[in-house]
Amino acid sequence: MSIKAIGVLTAGGDAPGMNAAVRAVVRTALALGLRAHGIRRAYEGLVHGDICDLGARDVGGIIQRGGTILRTARFKDFAKPEVQQEALRQLGRKGIDAVVAIGGDGTMRGALALHRLGFPVMGIPASIDNDVYGTDISIGVDTALNTIIEAIDKLRDTASSHQRAFIVETMGRNCGHLALMSGIISGAEMTLIPEQEVPPEEVAAAVREAYARGKTHAIVVVSEGAKYPAIALKEKLNAMKLDVDLRVTVLGHVQRGGSPSAWDRLIAARFGVGAVERLAKGESGVMVGLHARDVLTVPMEEAGSRQRQPDMEYYRMARMLAK
Ligand code: F6P
Repeated sequence: MSIKAIGVLTAGGDAPGMNAAVRAVVRTALALGLRAHGIRRAYEGLVHGDICDLGARDVGGIIQRGGTILRTARFKDFAKPEVQQEALRQLGRKGIDAVVAIGGDGTMRGALALHRLGFPVMGIPASIDNDVYGTDISIGVDTALNTIIEAIDKLRDTASSHQRAFIVETMGRNCGHLALMSGIISGAEMTLIPEQEVPPEEVAAAVREAYARGKTHAIVVVSEGAKYPAIALKEKLNAMKLDVDLRVTVLGHVQRGGSPSAWDRLIAARFGVGAVERLAKGESGVMVGLHARDVLTVPMEEAGSRQRQPDMEYYRMARMLAK
């Protein structure tokens, strides 16, 4: 069956560059002579029929905007078969015969459910965590990293002026990628991630040694998913009578916002084009992803059930360079 109309949705946590991907999906669909529809509020909006027509002008002026014009939601009920059937009814009502789902692993599981019911789907990875399996990088990671290093650079100025130590907490519920990369590119003294447990005593020693080597500050980057997130770690370190003025900054959702970087806009464009062109050729049930320089696909089963692991070589590097 040849496809005539594509629906696009953004789901899970928003990521900078989602809008650029929506634009690319819509404009590619139109270029191929297909109709394009926006599904608002992800799978939740889909089952309520919250669907609009999208033309080329509707996605104008959004390439530079963070967040998602389609809005997003986390919708656990989509795991229920009767809810999925309702989604199919809504898609049928609008004459939509394929869906592009933009988001993280939960988003891919939603799309996989539709694929298993015989409905054509294609995934595009977008999550600041960079935990989506089957791609070197997801949309949003680069912008989030730029936000983090800008914040840490500023914290370092005030830390040095007061000879303080800062614990900076990044996002990343189950994956330390953001913390690990920002530890390297901001020159942190220590980086703590969920994948590698480090006793607080070792952190205390690293901070003491940093001052002993003549540093005027110490920065400890910790992932929210680490055994001791920022506030817990501060309590542990204070209990060890670390003779340092220790402060905590939890970056939180500021990491999710902002105008997408050049890189995020570029991969959003490449993924959007790659996803729609593949759907139009009859492919389904896969997610596009970046593999070295190429846009390739991975089965949605894998993207939805596995987690991308950070490269622990970076961890070794981070420790070595923090001297
Ligand atoms: O998955 C992206 C992410 O920002 C995680 O890093 C974080 O743990 C989570 O979403 C926060 O979710 P919410 O915005 O629903 O609180």
